[in-house]
Amino acid sequence: MAARRDSSILAGLACAVFILLCSVSEVSSNREGRKFVTFTVATDETDGFKRFMRSADKYNIQVQVLGMHQEWLGGDVQNNIGGGQKVLLLKEALKKYKDDKDLVIMFSDSYDVIITAEKEEILRKFDDFNARVVFGAEGFCWPDRTLADLYPEVRLGKPYLNSGGFIGYASELYQIVSHTSIQNQHDDQLYYTRIFLNPELREKFKMKLDHTSEIFQNMNGAGADLTLKFDDDKTRLRNRVYNTEPCIIHGNGPQKLVLNHIGNYVADSWSFDECHSCKENTFSLKTYKRDDYPVVVIGLFIEQPTPFVPEFLNKIYNLDYPKNKIVLFIHNHEEHHAGDVQEFVKNYGGDYKAVREVTPSMNMNQWYARKQGLSECIGVKCDYYLSVDADVQITNPKTLQILIQQNRSVIAPMATKYGKLWSNFWGAIGDDGFYARSDDYIDIVQGTKKGVWNVPYINNVYLIHGSLLQQPKTMPNFIVGQLDADMAFCASLREKGIFMYVTNMDTFGRLTTTTSYSTEHLHPDMWQMYDNRPDWEEKYIHADFYKMLDPKTEVEMPCPDVYWFPIVTETFCKHLVEEMENYGEWSAGKNEDQRLPSGYENVPTVDIHMRQVGFEKEWLTILKDYVCKLQLKVFPGYFSPAQAIMNFVVRYHPQEQPFLRPHHDSSTFTINLALNKAGVDFEGGGCRFLRYNCSVTNTKMGWLLMHPGRLTHYHEGLPTTNGTRYIMISFVDP
Ligand SMILES: *[C@@H]1O[C@H](CO)[C@@H](O)[C@H](O)[C@H]1NC(C)=O
Ligand SMILES: *[C@@H]1O[C@H](CO)[C@@H](O)[C@H](O)[C@H]1NC(C)=O
Ligand SMILES: *[C@@H]1O[C@H](CO)[C@@H](O)[C@H](O)[C@H]1NC(C)=O
Repeated sequence: MAARRDSSILAGLACAVFILLCSVSEVSSNREGRKFVTFTVATDETDGFKRFMRSADKYNIQVQVLGMHQEWLGGDVQNNIGGGQKVLLLKEALKKYKDDKDLVIMFSDSYDVIITAEKEEILRKFDDFNARVVFGAEGFCWPDRTLADLYPEVRLGKPYLNSGGFIGYASELYQIVSHTSIQNQHDDQLYYTRIFLNPELREKFKMKLDHTSEIFQNMNGAGADLTLKFDDDKTRLRNRVYNTEPCIIHGNGPQKLVLNHIGNYVADSWSFDECHSCKENTFSLKTYKRDDYPVVVIGLFIEQPTPFVPEFLNKIYNLDYPKNKIVLFIHNHEEHHAGDVQEFVKNYGGDYKAVREVTPSMNMNQWYARKQGLSECIGVKCDYYLSVDADVQITNPKTLQILIQQNRSVIAPMATKYGKLWSNFWGAIGDDGFYARSDDYIDIVQGTKKGVWNVPYINNVYLIHGSLLQQPKTMPNFIVGQLDADMAFCASLREKGIFMYVTNMDTFGRLTTTTSYSTEHLHPDMWQMYDNRPDWEEKYIHADFYKMLDPKTEVEMPCPDVYWFPIVTETFCKHLVEEMENYGEWSAGKNEDQRLPSGYENVPTVDIHMRQVGFEKEWLTILKDYVCKLQLKVFPGYFSPAQAIMNFVVRYHPQEQPFLRPHHDSSTFTINLALNKAGVDFEGGGCRFLRYNCSVTNTKMGWLLMHPGRLTHYHEGLPTTNGTRYIMISFVDP
């Protein structure tokens, strides 16, 4: 041992001189003079290959890639035996080193491997084996289980050889790879196993297995043994069972997705301070002229009745991106939304490079439609394809630019459902092929960990790099067996070794919940306050409402103790009136009223109660969550239980009921919400408070008047002289 160290120091000196003479040496030497070469075999530059090379680079390990862009003849190694081609390529590469007894060669697969240590650590651990050749080990005897009995007994660790990674001296390794003939489609692991299981050869080549994952961690069957050890400097994978920190992580077999998860962290990818990998290979569109922006096809998919579809379309329109670089492909499968789409296309379609529409009457299913979307992209030689389902509200106009600049094969902006942990990605996949929660899922959803995450499943909204659509081997597929389109899409990407990322580096938008959306109503969005509050508020609560709550904002008081607030949008007013007219059963304005428990109304109006259109529960929530907050500001100290039995829309019309005689309300306070426009939709009208001889006639749509009910504010409805005036009344806390 000591003698060998000495000689290698001498060799190192010689080599240092040699390097000066021959600067492009493929053999790297460290200070101690150890010569070290790493080989891998890869025929394609898959995402996994790029990840491997990135990790090698992080740890200053130069890798010689064998077989790149050659045809792969080694069979389907994922699902079957094969890989003989790897042995043959290595044999060819090692020829020139065949007599080198000092040169250390490491071989590693690359598509499903990450390097997490520098050469010095690898060599130190290799020396500790006191072997000439060390192969990684695993718990499965593959591909020939009957060979298990021939293995030497192991006291600690995994017993069987895995050929995904090995290290050894060039002279011995060359003898091994050239020991017997092997063909491309033969199994490389079986080849090496046979040599190892031959006691004479094992002795001759001084072969050992890395049973306890000192260097090589084969993950198959060992997932539960592994844990991430976070470190500001370099996060490493730790084998808890053997108490080792392996250098070469091989996500073999079904562990590929777990390796993707680990790959989010190790090899200097991410730390709590910073996501390093997020910044790699990105670029900025700022250097582009608007006319040179990449061409994007945006596929929009309305596959079921969905809340807030006009808003969904508007947000697409609001994406900050040159419209002449965007082709819209719209698949609408719902007759219910035909009007929304038609209006959008009529108003804005002309701004885009082109719009292609598949209407409900064409009856195209979503599997085919999504495929069609990709075809449109190929047809216009797109640079990117952005797919967005109707249940995604993209609130960040920069979303498309951010995704493009991130420069990944497939990337989704994270979107979550309001108030839920539900999102558009999965952190892991269970054995059943469906959702499983990864240990970092909640941190990512809640944003306590920010990054660009390699995940096994994304949905609802994602950007695909156009280069993927140029060849079948990278083409995503929506039609796979009986799978739903989203499952098929992700399964096909996983199968093809294409990484899917989700980013939560920015806020992008949210998912709406579609389950409670009922097309029975004329304007179903009005009923969406429970499931989709942010979208509901955006659509229906007045933009100035929250400003009103600010103690610094002064509240208008047109008459003594009559307060005036903006509360709902004009859209709310319009939709409420239309719901009422659509329902149509206006009361006769008589004292007899069967809708009331008493059967009698003292001061009758022509009206429809909220309860009659099924909006009472929703209205009472508006009362509690919005109106009473305003009330507390102007009538402090009164904590309203927000009860109201009488909530109704009144219709005033010169030929019907034009006015209401003076009266008190049976309420603690009353609100009177103007639902249309004075001077535009009607003439006359307004409310007069007799005690103060004070009238409010220029009522504002979406604004409410709030005044005490039972005492002091004796009031009347002034005559509407032309047109129709609508107001909404609530007697709060009767
Ligand atoms: C995108 O990333 C790839 C590596 O995956 C890199 O080769 C390419 O230059 C990047 N594109 C841009 C425009 O920077
Ligand atoms: C009430 O106000 C109107 C104008 O605002 C005025 O003409 C009228 O005289 C007032 N009536 C009383 C009783 O003060
Ligand atoms: C009522 O309004 C309509 C249109 O706004 C107008 O044409 C008509 O002359 C008005 N009628 C009266 C009696 O003011």
